Amino acid sequence: MISGSLSFTEELGQRLRELKEELNAVILAHNYQRPEVQDVADFLGDSLELSRKATQTQAEIIVFCGVDFMAESASILNPEKMVLLPELNAACPMAAMITPEDVRVLRERHPGAPVVCYVNSSAAVKAESDICCTSANAIKVVNSLSEEEIIFIPDEYLGRYVASKTKKEIVLHPGFCPTHARVRAGEIRFLKEAFPDAEIIVHPECTPEVIALADAVLSTSQMVRYAKESAAKTFIVGTEEGLLYRLRRENPGKTFHLASSTLICPNMKKITLESVARSLEKRQHIITVPEKIRRAAVRALDRMLTIKQDRTSTSD
Ligand code: 13P
Ligand code: SF4
Repeated sequence: MISGSLSFTEELGQRLRELKEELNAVILAHNYQRPEVQDVADFLGDSLELSRKATQTQAEIIVFCGVDFMAESASILNPEKMVLLPELNAACPMAAMITPEDVRVLRERHPGAPVVCYVNSSAAVKAESDICCTSANAIKVVNSLSEEEIIFIPDEYLGRYVASKTKKEIVLHPGFCPTHARVRAGEIRFLKEAFPDAEIIVHPECTPEVIALADAVLSTSQMVRYAKESAAKTFIVGTEEGLLYRLRRENPGKTFHLASSTLICPNMKKITLESVARSLEKRQHIITVPEKIRRAAVRALDRMLTIKQDRTSTSD
C-alpha cells in the first residue's frame, strides 16, 4: 500500500459509512460473519439480540448480515422497513428441514400440544407455530407454557437438550444443523487432554454426546459473556468458527480453541464486504414476507420477545 492511500478494505469501509448515512441504514451482523463484516457492523449479536435490535432501530433500511431466516424475522418484525440480505442464497439448511405441512401433521398427532419453533425456520413454519425461541432462551420459552406436552421444531438436538432440562414431555422433529452436527465427542476429549485447564463451551445445536462433555451450553453471545466472566484462561469452543474472532478480540488475555476444524457454516460465509456495499448501493436483495404469513408469524416472534431474558444462561 502506498503511504497515505487507503487499502481496498478501508475504502470499502469508508464507502459503507457514507452509504449508511445517506440512506439512513443500519448494518446488523451475526456473530458467525467474516471478521471484516463484523468490523463494519453497527450491531453484532446472536439471533435473539439481533431480533430485538431489529425492533429498536430508527433506521429506514436494515442490512442483515446473516442467513435468510434472520433477515426474514427482521422483515416480519418491521414490515415498514426495507430489509436487505446481501446474498440471496445465504440460507440455513436446518430451516429447510421442516415444512408447514409437517407442523400440521405434528399438531394432528399431538392435539393440544403447543408448537415451540426455533427461529432457524421459515416464516411459513413460524406462522404455524405458537411461540418462537432461540438458543438463548429455549428452556425459558418451553417452561413459560402451561401445557405438559410441547412440540419442539425443527432442531432435534436443541430439543433434546431442552428436554434434559425441563420436566415437560418434548415431541421432537429430526432437523439438525449440518455444521454443529459434525463435531465429534472424540475431538473434544482430545483437546481436553491437551488443555486440561480449558473450559468446554458448546452451542446447543451440537449432538447430545458433545453436549454431555460441556461445562456450559450457550448461545453465541452468551459464550462471549461467559468467557469474559469466567476465571478460566483457556476455552474449547463448540460453535461456528466466526465467533472466535469476537471471542479473541474481546478477551485479549485468553486462548480459544475451536472444537473441530469442520465448524464452518458455508452459508454464513457467503456475505462479503463487497456484497454488503453492493446491497446498499443497489438496495438488494429486499426480503419481504406475504402479509397473511407475516401476521401469523409475528405473533410467535412477539410472544417470544415479551419473555424476559437472563444474561448468561440458556437454562431457566
Ligand atoms: P445463536 O442464536 O446462538 O447466535 O445461533 C444461531 C445459529 O444459527 C447457530 O447455528
Ligand atoms: Fe444454520 Fe447451522 Fe449455519 Fe446456524 S450454523 S445458520 S444452524 S447451518
